[in-house]
Amino acid sequence: MKPKTIALDGPAASGKSTVGSRVAEALGYLFFDTGVMYRAVTWTALQRGVDLSDKDAVAQIAQNVPIDVLPPSKNDGRACDVLVEKEDITWQCRRPEVDANVSTVAANAGVRAALSKQQRRIGLRGKVVMVGRDIGTVVIPEAELKIYLDASAEERAQRRYDEIIARKEIADYAEILAKVKERDHIDSTRDVAPLRPADDAVIIDSDKLDANQVFEEIMALCK
Ligand code: DC
Repeated sequence: MKPKTIALDGPAASGKSTVGSRVAEALGYLFFDTGVMYRAVTWTALQRGVDLSDKDAVAQIAQNVPIDVLPPSKNDGRACDVLVEKEDITWQCRRPEVDANVSTVAANAGVRAALSKQQRRIGLRGKVVMVGRDIGTVVIPEAELKIYLDASAEERAQRRYDEIIARKEIADYAEILAKVKERDHIDSTRDVAPLRPADDAVIIDSDKLDANQVFEEIMALCK
């Protein structure tokens, strides 16, 4: 029997989204990248000039601003559409200022409570591949299959660099590596729902595997 819910956690740029969307497509499941919700809250707070250290004000955004994550409406490399109050912010929420601030927002307990609740409701419907940092540990601890996809900071920085160059934008590898390490540190040392594998997660190290091999390994685990 195929697992009803697949939790796919791991650090930034470990390849979760790429492989998660392929697994979802192969199984006919919904692909749900929970990181975009933290990005949407961050983008909204920055747009509104809200001080990110004002925890209550940022949590209010997570509680009150409608965020939608929908199947992709355009074939421009996006895995899903991200809407805030019906405005398409799919690419805005990938901007460097969001990258630089999203870990702070994700460490806000009020934000996590509001977003985890919405994520859990969607995850419990089943037939979903959920990608994040705390899906197997906090959001859906009862998920039938939990995977923790890991890779070294250097390999992940290289992938981010390649993605940016492929979009014909300018990138600096050393700067990206420093940011990946900084975000890892914030994500794994925060008080609420720190990044870590669930005790019963299958750990896959993708340093020496290409995206196809990771995909095959996960599909084998689904059988
Ligand atoms: O996967 P990503 O880079 O889009 O995630 C953005 C941020 O959100 C990152 O700092 C980790 C955080 N995040 C989280 O804390 N919990 C999740 N379930 C998903 C993402």
